[in-house]
Amino acid sequence: MANYLEWSQAWTGRMTKADGDASHKRAPELAAMLKKQMAAGELPFLTMPYRERLEKDLPPILERIKGYRHMLVLGIGGSALGARAMQRAFAPGQDGPGYNGPWLWIADNVCAAQFEGLLGKLNPEETVVVCISKSGGTIETLAQYFLVREWLQKARGDSWREQVILVTDLNKGFLRGEAQAKDLASLEVPDFLGGRYSALSAVGMLPAGFMGINWRALLDGAACVARPLVDNPEAIATHPAFSLACWAKTLQDKNYSELIFFCYLPQWATYGPWFAQLWAESLGKDGKGSIPIPATGVTDQHSVNQMFLDGPRNKGCIFLTGEQPEAGRKFGDDLPAQWAWLRGKAFGALLEAEALGTRMALCKNGVPLVGMHMGSIDEKAAGAMMMLLEGATIFTGWLMGINPVDQPAVELGKRLANSRLGADGYAAEARDLGAFLTTPQERQEF
Ligand code: PA5
Repeated sequence: MANYLEWSQAWTGRMTKADGDASHKRAPELAAMLKKQMAAGELPFLTMPYRERLEKDLPPILERIKGYRHMLVLGIGGSALGARAMQRAFAPGQDGPGYNGPWLWIADNVCAAQFEGLLGKLNPEETVVVCISKSGGTIETLAQYFLVREWLQKARGDSWREQVILVTDLNKGFLRGEAQAKDLASLEVPDFLGGRYSALSAVGMLPAGFMGINWRALLDGAACVARPLVDNPEAIATHPAFSLACWAKTLQDKNYSELIFFCYLPQWATYGPWFAQLWAESLGKDGKGSIPIPATGVTDQHSVNQMFLDGPRNKGCIFLTGEQPEAGRKFGDDLPAQWAWLRGKAFGALLEAEALGTRMALCKNGVPLVGMHMGSIDEKAAGAMMMLLEGATIFTGWLMGINPVDQPAVELGKRLANSRLGADGYAAEARDLGAFLTTPQERQEF
């Protein structure tokens, strides 16, 4: 069965199809941008020129590390979220009983207690460490790397080098220098492939491959969605990623400031945070954008759904469903009379029925909603969904007139933190911090 978008409830509430058409008319303009940026190599997430090299470089590395029981990934943001989503979707055993490895640990925070929890329990002899940073200079990732490097060196002596793989820019950044200076194995993050668009490069494929996930199928699925655009940029006019972008732009124009990503594929729930980062970091610019809200069906029916249904009328929804591989065990005939209607039904019927119920309730409550249905929920389908959402994000940014591949606003906090830690070259930030810290506090204890 094919994957598809379902549009019958998309143009509701304050949204009209005519509003969407105004964006759609800009297809030739966006096609020209697409053509130009692809020709300049600026959209590698779409054209995937790096695939050939990855196909060559990744298999020998996977072969070499397959004896390790643990992979410890150090990375943050786009260098972590894709791998986590793929792990939870396609190698979920680690979260369940009776699992016997391999294990993937993704360290994407700087909590000393959690970090000690990991390093204190992992056996360095059984652990391959993967440090992922496109820039090669992200403080959170590097701080972890320095500590893990020491941990490995202490335990493994000179052979620590065999247990480290760096995934970073091919030519620049501290980590690239480190790989060269210490002769460490490395994989490239290609030029112009920003973190949140990089899950389908070595960034996500190395952890995925280690976990036995079919990483080639992920790439194939993505390529299927990208191909029409790569072959002919003018195909954007009928491409579902552009349709989504026109809809999302209209949502913003009509003051729908929040976009729910309601995932009724529980196995794919961790794609919610992946999408949220992609959407928020790409599109929150110049006072514009919509706030992504990841939600998981059915769990969040008993949590945030009340707000979705009857809170402010400022939400649109992408509603993700798919064909489940199994219907599950059946309810027996001995169910109490009040539950007799469940007798003989499969457990999986609940998910389908509750997805339908929630979708319809959202629609009846005036939430503009696009259904996204996956014909299967394998790696190929996931790759297709990722590419669709990445394309939609880029095109939405172009329609908004912002740059969807930078993230200038987050730099300030990083500079201030560096200054606080005593890094050189942050005199202005140090002055600002001084002033901020001398503002009298107004505390209220509780
Ligand atoms: O999407 C992005 O560009 C960011 O979230 C980055 O992934 C994040 O800041 C980590 O950057 P780097 O991969 O350079 O360490």
